[in-house]
Amino acid sequence: MEEKKKILYSGMQATNALTIGNYLGALKNWVTLNEEYECFFGVMDLHSLTVRQNPTEFRQNARKLYALYVAAGLDPKKNCVYYQSHVPAHAQLSWILNCFTYMGELNRMTQFKDKSAKHADNINAGLFTYPVLMAADILLYQTDVVPVGKDQMQHLEITRDIAMRFNNIYGDVFKIPEAYIGKSGARIMSLQDPTKKMSKSDENVNATILLTDDTDTIIRKFKRAVTDSDTQVRYDVENKPGVSNLMDIYSSITGKSSDEIEAEFDGKGYGDFKLAVGETVAKELAPIQLEYERLLKDKEYINGCIKENDEKAAYFANKTLRKAMKKVGLTEMIR
Ligand code: TRP
Repeated sequence: MEEKKKILYSGMQATNALTIGNYLGALKNWVTLNEEYECFFGVMDLHSLTVRQNPTEFRQNARKLYALYVAAGLDPKKNCVYYQSHVPAHAQLSWILNCFTYMGELNRMTQFKDKSAKHADNINAGLFTYPVLMAADILLYQTDVVPVGKDQMQHLEITRDIAMRFNNIYGDVFKIPEAYIGKSGARIMSLQDPTKKMSKSDENVNATILLTDDTDTIIRKFKRAVTDSDTQVRYDVENKPGVSNLMDIYSSITGKSSDEIEAEFDGKGYGDFKLAVGETVAKELAPIQLEYERLLKDKEYINGCIKENDEKAAYFANKTLRKAMKKVGLTEMIR
């Protein structure tokens, strides 16, 4: 008999264009997971509302993110790739879980502190309860593992705390999710300040490589990448963070180790190295970009995928939601 696959859940917010940080750090690895896991990947558009959006751009960005997921290789026939906002169970469970989450817990979230500092004019309640919605996302699917970066670990911890608290009162309603530890993606840093994570919201356009940047732009940005006054291509995150970051990027595409990369560029300067990294990245992204452009035009195909996967997600999510509603004593609907 075929063994039941474990469930894996992740997603990205539907804001701004994605960078190679999102790709090499997450997306590229997600693509390899559907053989081993039953995968759910959401376009996390409800989370994006915690920051004010231009409605037209926002809708387009969500669509682009969906197309990019698919273009990068998340096959919507093998993975459930769907819109968070199309499955009302997320908002519904989130409300219930809000009533099992303490202000004190949410107050400790570093992302909330960072974001409130950054958006001081719009510290809304959604920003505060952001982690509770994320807990609902994960718990609705009886998720076993969640691949998340360091910056989301605290949110996964609170998800576990909320789930355990709920289960302690009502019995085994939620699976307690674990962080995915497997081959995790590289942590890609800014090209202009390699001590900072590459961020899609960075204001300096030279700091990030967008997944939609063309070859010339990619090569130009790598040429301008901040390195150091040394000339040797050597892996040393502390003293040579810029070069080490470029090596990480190069390594995550070519699969070469730092020793191999050091040997390859022995005696050559940073110019050659940066060009090689730029060309490698451009070559990796080219087929994805082609497919992305094609998919954006193939409205019918994408619409079909969205509809099918929204329904699939809703089916699983509603099972958990109904259970949670019943456990807390909400009255069942008469059908
Ligand atoms: N908060 C995550 C991020 O910004 C996105 C996200 C929302 C998510 N819900 C999730 C990630 C559930 C994993 C699981 O990166």
